[in-house]
Amino acid sequence: MHKVSLITGDGIGPEIVDSVKKIFKKARANVEFEEMEAGIEVYEREGDPLPKSVVDSIKKNKVALKGPITTPVGKGFKSVNVRLRKELNLYANLRPVKSFEGVESRYKNIDLVIVRENTEDLYAGIEHRIGDYACESIKLITRPACDRIIDFAVDYCNRLDRNRLTCVHKANIMKLSDGLFLDVFKEKTAVFKGNAADDKNEQKLKCDDLIVDACAMNLVINPEKYDTLVMPNLYGDIISDLCAGLVGGLGLVAGANIGGDYAVFEAVHGSAPDIAGKNQANPTAILMASIMMLEHLGEMETAKKIDNAIKEVLKRGEVRTPDLGGKSSTDEFTDAVCELL
Ligand code: NAI
Ligand code: MG
Repeated sequence: MHKVSLITGDGIGPEIVDSVKKIFKKARANVEFEEMEAGIEVYEREGDPLPKSVVDSIKKNKVALKGPITTPVGKGFKSVNVRLRKELNLYANLRPVKSFEGVESRYKNIDLVIVRENTEDLYAGIEHRIGDYACESIKLITRPACDRIIDFAVDYCNRLDRNRLTCVHKANIMKLSDGLFLDVFKEKTAVFKGNAADDKNEQKLKCDDLIVDACAMNLVINPEKYDTLVMPNLYGDIISDLCAGLVGGLGLVAGANIGGDYAVFEAVHGSAPDIAGKNQANPTAILMASIMMLEHLGEMETAKKIDNAIKEVLKRGEVRTPDLGGKSSTDEFTDAVCELL
């Protein structure tokens, strides 16, 4: 049995996490969850939305599955998600975005992977007021963080036979910060030089770079041209949601926060307060995260079994949540997956 920390989260968190628990039970997954609470209610009760006990639990178990957690806008506490990523040094955020058969979307055959730097950039939280009329947020980019995220992306492409790696940046304007990110990318991928992204050589990794605004447009017009994209934190946040939109929405896409010692798996989406408590949320995204987690734990067979069942339910299309144009509830979707299992 693998012991895994489970953070339920808030908003739709408890509903979608419940779906994972039911499906893991049905699939007899070799996972025992240690349930922990974090977020707004814990903050109101204990004064800290991320109690030390939660971080300690993840440090002990090394692996966590996390529901979404609300971050108040403007005032209030710092994002629990950002804190977790920093405190556990989860430097890579890996977000595969793949089309699902049977799910209506603008494109078919999308197979993209976003590799998002996860610890710095404008998310470093270095902000201050300057008098009454200005505020300043610092975009921090360091060489060690660039080194490890580019290494991670190259290694990922090599291990999974991905054949194109695109660095996304805005180095034309942020010549120093994004310039450093791009320089490190070019240094580390110099060995692949000569493998032009549009040449016919299928064997070797092709590397190129793209300015983030052009990237946004190209992904909407020609997403099938791209493969794996590596980028600083903020662009990764935005481009991930864009890519989720290409395959049918936020209810479908998962991510892994990976560091040297720990890994935290979660959906790309947030706590969706507009549909919380209504039994309407699509649990697919967090289920896909839980499948990535099972693979990380080496539980390939169970991962495949659950993956097949979810994809089959989506393909049949009889049971589908409102975000995908259906009328079924979270529970009905979960039950349909359990039935197939
Ligand atoms: P959101 O991702 O929660 O929701 C955006 C839209 O997508 C909403 O219309 C929502 O109903 C829909 N949606 C999201 N997940 C869905 C699902 N599983 N099934 C069906 N529909 C779904 O983004 P929003 O509203 O901007 O943020 C809400 C809160 O979540 C904020 O406090 C934000 O800070 C937090 N957040 C937390 C994240 C995390 O825990 N990792 C990530 C993103 C946002
Ligand atoms: Mg986001």
